[in-house]
Amino acid sequence: VRGMPVQVRADASAGAVAAPKPGTSTFKVAVLGAAGGIGQPLSLLIKMSPLVQELRLYDIANVKGVAADLSHCNTPAHVSAYTGSGELAAALKDVDLVIIPAGVPRKPGMTRDDLFNINAGIVRTLIEAVADNAPNALINIISNPVNSTVPIAAEVLKAKGVYDPKKLFGVTTLDVVRANTFVAQKKNLRLIDVNVPVIGGHAGVTILPLLSKTRPTVEFTPEEVEELTVRIQNAGTEVVEAKAGAGSATLSMAYAAARFAESCMRALDGDSDVYECAYIQSEVTDLPFFATTVKLGKKGVEEVIAEDLNGLTEYEKNAVDALKQELKGSIEKGVQFAKKQA
Ligand code: NAD
Ligand code: LMR
Repeated sequence: VRGMPVQVRADASAGAVAAPKPGTSTFKVAVLGAAGGIGQPLSLLIKMSPLVQELRLYDIANVKGVAADLSHCNTPAHVSAYTGSGELAAALKDVDLVIIPAGVPRKPGMTRDDLFNINAGIVRTLIEAVADNAPNALINIISNPVNSTVPIAAEVLKAKGVYDPKKLFGVTTLDVVRANTFVAQKKNLRLIDVNVPVIGGHAGVTILPLLSKTRPTVEFTPEEVEELTVRIQNAGTEVVEAKAGAGSATLSMAYAAARFAESCMRALDGDSDVYECAYIQSEVTDLPFFATTVKLGKKGVEEVIAEDLNGLTEYEKNAVDALKQELKGSIEKGVQFAKKQA
């Protein structure tokens, strides 16, 4: 099994080689942008995962100290640091999972698309290195604007001849985490029980919580639907404004990205019951990329849960129609950028 050879041991009774027990540390994970606001707490949470055997931290600066610091935690993952483009290949060589929070965050007054000019090039360069050094890895993209950076990554991987749409994910878990939190607060539910699928993309109106599909089943008035939907769509901006120029969500994002990474590793490890929302190449609409619930498996996306789009309320149907225009433009912008540079 890919990613598991290090702990393979001889099975004395059969004379055969047995795989390690599921749930033990077997995976190599690289975090690109590991010294940043998201990168540091995310790396801490990944260091705590029992599934991680090697944690490789890459950044253009300041990453050695982060790695030295984390390496003192008495959890199994071995931590190493890689600084600058000359060390990028070594950071990525044969990893199972690459998580990318590299890039600039928003300041008040900016949209995520305002980050495109800087972050598009960063993601392109990093994905080229992923293609060359870890072509079979699952890729979790956090860098904004996710609606465009994922299509950029897909084009770069295609140009390198290693694109597997089942392995490329835009991380939208923070939208689900926020939806769950806000709904539980509003309806006095136990947080642990609440799940709200969030579909579409990851910017403004493209973020669409499907409140009608909240589990456990719960009734919302039209006013509650409007209030919660708008709050979930603007939650990133809520944090950007509260941080007043010092960046965007980092701690809640690290939490959400660690949850998504853990889900990816559990699926790689053979757990057959792993579902998450994510922004992926998809055929559930006429757009090439769309976030829905997906079932994760040993090869990445095992099943796209198209059912998310069935039985929507009128409010949700109208919101899907409305978000498609913006999402289409963001996808095309990413594809054009990648093609122009190729
Ligand atoms: P930050 O500025 O604190 O950290 C970014 C890190 O990236 C820095 O350490 C920087 O040195 C590094 N970096 C820059 N260029 C790089 C390169 N070429 N290679 C490797 N590393 C590089 O920013 P942050 O708050 O951690 O946010 C990072 C990104 O994540 C932003 O684009 C932000 O908008 C995005 N974000 C996404 C979500 C989401 O839900 N998907 C949530 C929050 C933030
Ligand atoms: C978020 O949703 O918090 C991130 O996309 C960061 C941002 O710019 O809002």
